[in-house]
Amino acid sequence: MANIRKAALADAVELHKLGANVPEFLVNEDTVNFWPRDILDDALESDDVLVLVAEEQGQMLGFIIASYVSGLKKATIENVFVTPAYRSQGIGESLLDTLLKTLAERGCEYVATLVPHDAAGAYRLYQNVGFAKGGTFLWLDKALSDNFKSPGGRNV
Ligand SMILES: CC(C)(COP(=O)(O)OP(=O)(O)OC[C@H]1O[C@@H](n2cnc3c(N)ncnc32)[C@H](O)[C@@H]1OP(=O)(O)O)[C@@H](O)C(=O)NCCC(=O)NCCS
Repeated sequence: MANIRKAALADAVELHKLGANVPEFLVNEDTVNFWPRDILDDALESDDVLVLVAEEQGQMLGFIIASYVSGLKKATIENVFVTPAYRSQGIGESLLDTLLKTLAERGCEYVATLVPHDAAGAYRLYQNVGFAKGGTFLWLDKALSDNFKSPGGRNV
């Protein structure tokens, strides 16, 4: 049974290793597909970002990252990931359940997320936890610093 806990700055290296090459996190060729290391470090110490990790016998098996805007009472789930070999064992649901409980304790009243249209595991996970399916939107983005630009992208 995986243990779910709040991530600490000391988890940054392992977290970045897990999140750096997840195809489902890629939104386009021009933008990095995971949080740059310095931003991840800041996020781990920031009050408006919640990062939880799942681990078993000291091995990190997955994580969930959400941002929370208290002024809007709204959270956005930015990323959820479980190592492929450990999927379909309920780890994703445990991460999500713990996140939702933590958000509710902080006064959050609305949670939303975006998943790729073909991410079947993610869709199933959110559906199981009671998320309703909304409309299909076009992702538009713009990097305001080099940090977010993909090395091979058009904006470099
Ligand atoms: C989404 C993800 C975190 C789910 O993790 P998990 O530990 O497998 O989640 P759970 O075991 O709690 O539940 C997953 C559900 O999806 C199902 N599922 C898993 N992989 C699936 C697949 N490829 N197709 C359809 N359903 C799938 C599981 O059977 C389970 O549903 P069930 O309980 O009704 O049987 C994991 O699949 C993942 O890391 N995907 C890649 C990253 C991603 O897409 N993130 C979302 C965008 S940020």
